[in-house]
Amino acid sequence: MDTDTLVYGVVGNPVKHSLSPYMHNLAFKLCSFNGAYLAFDVSNIGGCIEGVRSLGISGLSVTIPHKESIIKFLDEVSESALKIGAVNTVINENGVLKGDNTDWVGVVNSIKDNTEIKDKKVLVIGAGGASRGVCYGIINERANLFITNRTREKGELLAKEFNAKFVDEKELLNLKPEIIINTTSVGMYPNIDKSPLNKRIFKGAELALDIVYNPIETKFLKDAKSFGLKTVSGVGMFVYQGQAQFNKWTGKSFPIQIMKEKIFNKLITK
Ligand code: ATR
Repeated sequence: MDTDTLVYGVVGNPVKHSLSPYMHNLAFKLCSFNGAYLAFDVSNIGGCIEGVRSLGISGLSVTIPHKESIIKFLDEVSESALKIGAVNTVINENGVLKGDNTDWVGVVNSIKDNTEIKDKKVLVIGAGGASRGVCYGIINERANLFITNRTREKGELLAKEFNAKFVDEKELLNLKPEIIINTTSVGMYPNIDKSPLNKRIFKGAELALDIVYNPIETKFLKDAKSFGLKTVSGVGMFVYQGQAQFNKWTGKSFPIQIMKEKIFNKLITK
């Protein structure tokens, strides 16, 4: 590091568990990019943004609980981030702080590693913040989007916003989706024996993706596998959203294959 080193970081609360510093510092090293990436445990996001401006920090990853509240402190926000209502990436372009969202890119690319999305019947489970990014990505790929959620009103509202159809428990029985995505935290450690839906939903489907990556193979994915589906863990999603951030910050190409292996290994040895 020297006086030319560009500084980046993840802001969240908590951030101790984050794998982003490991991932981005490794990418900087492999690309011979003079950057350093840190973890900032932040409670006051407005104050944090003032700090970014005065210190000239080059970019941020943004995580829970600041993805929505950061928006009003930024100078520009991309169309995707506005539609999703969340920023996960900040780019400091000569003092102009630009907010963007790459979470949806992570979802789309990790599915596309396995199958086409266009024109498929896609069922998204959940209607929270994470679901919004997934829905944006799926609509952007011109698939047919269906949303189900424990709380009907929330699911219906989201479906309306994304020109999708809300399906309740009864309607799910006849839906026959091809791609099924869990965006809820159901099944996350320590509740590893839980799945958001009855496993009969997987009959005849092609692929299941879980945004939960702790554990890597959730009950939801185990059930999907038992019905012969391709399964996609949250690891690819995490790495692809990082790749898109890295490209926006550095313009350099990101070592995607190496990173998938490294992050996978980090998660299984955790
Ligand atoms: P995030 O921003 O991470 O998506 P969130 O906004 O709290 O988190 O949304 C969580 C989503 O998971 C919601 O769709 C929630 O359903 P409700 O709208 O009914 O609250 C869903 N969810 C969380 N826990 C759940 C559970 N035990 N069973 C079913 N759905 C659950």
